[in-house]
Amino acid sequence: MGRTIHFEETVTSTQKIAQSLANDGVQEGTIVVADQQTNGRGRMSRAWYSPSGTGIWMSMIIRPNIPVNTTPQLTLLTAVAIVQAIEELTPLKPDIKWPNDIMINGKKVVGILTELQAEADQVHSVIIGTGINVNQKTEDFPEDLQTIATSILIETGTSWERAQLIQTILLRFESLYSLFLSKGFKPIKLLWESYAISLNKILIARTLKGTVEGKAIGIDDDGALLIETCDKRIEKIYSADIELK
Ligand code: BTN
Repeated sequence: MGRTIHFEETVTSTQKIAQSLANDGVQEGTIVVADQQTNGRGRMSRAWYSPSGTGIWMSMIIRPNIPVNTTPQLTLLTAVAIVQAIEELTPLKPDIKWPNDIMINGKKVVGILTELQAEADQVHSVIIGTGINVNQKTEDFPEDLQTIATSILIETGTSWERAQLIQTILLRFESLYSLFLSKGFKPIKLLWESYAISLNKILIARTLKGTVEGKAIGIDDDGALLIETCDKRIEKIYSADIELK
């Protein structure tokens, strides 16, 4: 991973640049990193606040030979790689809130957006975008984010070298990705579960189709969250906002 890194000062979105590089056929493992994004995108068409000088705004291009419906597994794998890197470099112990929010003390420090290009049922390329709040102070966040977002600096009291974090994340990702390609999702799932805060808790999942409330009993092999409702039905959730009760 990261043998070719495109570093840009300012872009609209690293996802957009990575998508066009993927269309041009660049090799697997190509990375796009920007100091600032003017139109950073989050899940569910939300904006992602990406100011200059403080965060890691990065998109990775990979080309696994997997069917489309298993790509959520790669989002979970990326979350594990980032948690491991943060644990390796800092004293922090982040948690993962399904599917891919990395939280510290109940506030979001990392978001992951996985987008794919596919033909029929087969993946052509996967663009994994990661937004990591590294060196923002509380007052650097817009007011509406201050109560829900945090940064590694806020949680540790010191600033961190972004390049070193990127390097550690890429190394962690590379080793988990080769584990995934050789042994499948099972070992990744076990690691993910060890960091998950959403499991065995009562929660509300807000999906585009409606709201599901119940106990999170696990994740399925395709990365979906399994919720047991109060009438004992098992609902499979692929995309939602989660509120822990
Ligand atoms: C989320 O909603 O939690 C996902 C946020 C993903 C943000 C990252 S920043 C780098 C890449 N470029 C984007 O426009 N979005 C992703």
